[in-house]
Amino acid sequence: MISHERCSANRALSSRSNIVSDSLKSKGMVLVKAMVLKEYGGPGVLRVQEIGRPEVGPEEILIEIAATAVNRADLLERQGLYPPPPPAPRYQIPGLECAGTVIATGERVIGFNIGDRAMALLPGGGYAEYVAVAEDMAWLVPEALNLTQAAIPEVYLTAFDALWDKAELMPEDRVLIHAAAGGVGSAAVQLALAAGVQVAATVGSEKKRQFVSKLGAHRVINYRDQDFVAAIQHWTQGQGVQAVIDFVGQSYLQRNLQILAAGGTLVIVGTLSGAEAPVNLGQVLNRRLTIRGTALRSRQRYDKMRLVQTFARRTTADFNSGRLKPIIDRIIPWEQAGEAHRILATNQTIGKLVLKVR
Ligand SMILES: NC(=O)c1ccc[n+]([C@@H]2O[C@H](COP(=O)([O-])OP(=O)(O)OC[C@H]3O[C@@H](n4cnc5c(N)ncnc54)[C@H](OP(=O)(O)O)[C@@H]3O)[C@@H](O)[C@H]2O)c1
Repeated sequence: MISHERCSANRALSSRSNIVSDSLKSKGMVLVKAMVLKEYGGPGVLRVQEIGRPEVGPEEILIEIAATAVNRADLLERQGLYPPPPPAPRYQIPGLECAGTVIATGERVIGFNIGDRAMALLPGGGYAEYVAVAEDMAWLVPEALNLTQAAIPEVYLTAFDALWDKAELMPEDRVLIHAAAGGVGSAAVQLALAAGVQVAATVGSEKKRQFVSKLGAHRVINYRDQDFVAAIQHWTQGQGVQAVIDFVGQSYLQRNLQILAAGGTLVIVGTLSGAEAPVNLGQVLNRRLTIRGTALRSRQRYDKMRLVQTFARRTTADFNSGRLKPIIDRIIPWEQAGEAHRILATNQTIGKLVLKVR
């Protein structure tokens, strides 16, 4: 079923791209490079091509991208399983974040000048030399960060939203963060610690356990050696945690509910092991538990804008002081995005894979 749908989608994608590149040549537009999806499939479909340089709308800035980063969602999008939100973009280009230099501003832009260093949350389009983005979705790079370090805001925004908007944690609450050495997990550990939350974390290897311990997490559990339910019950003296930040889904659901304190919240950020699982509603009811989901890309613009601007205000000082440190597994030239996708899928990375564009 998926392969039939993918074939039709591939035909539509490739005919759209051919028409566009022919007409660009005849219009004499400035051509720039971007990784347009002309077909869906394996990492090999990620190839650079020339497109017309994006133009800024009245409330947009044009960023000359220095670096972008790989997200799990990009792997799904590449396979045709995660379409960009409407309105459909002229070119389907993966990439949910970037950092770079502002080279043009729309007539109603008030927060940026040409030459500013900007980082941005994107609906797509990051695997490219240039992107036009609403100024509300961008903010100035903290002075202490270079443009490579600034290319990974998506995981911090996701973690910020999960911890504060969804779990509504308070200082000294206890949280369990799964996949804590991953992109979002490691961002969540840092943000929670910086706010005075007690942090427990799960990871899948000794190397990751050591890494997350160095970040300062109070209790780090290698789930391959140890049952995380027993470890959390021991850590909390049977009281449980006020929140669980989960990326695993199906295989963890029952255990996540078990270790929540009365009134606690489970935040579903990802479903890496699967999306369907039975729920014991009696447990939810009796212990007044909340299960909340979150998804960044599909949100309304004003909801995202509020998150982006709150995040920028509340974290810039912590990035400048070094309290928050972007965690980068490695930097890869963007032309090798396919290889980066292969690496991310191995589950071996710590922090983020950054794609260097220039
Ligand atoms: N809702 C949103 O808006 C949003 C935004 C960003 C990301 N996400 C989702 O959040 C999830 C994590 O993203 P990320 O960027 O942090 O990814 P990541 O850096 O690749 O980290 C994911 C880690 O999860 C662990 N893992 C993978 N499969 C697992 C399984 N079946 N059971 C247990 N652990 C597993 C692995 O670490 P271990 O070796 O420690 O097991 C892996 O390295 C993804 O599903 C992503 O799509 C959602």
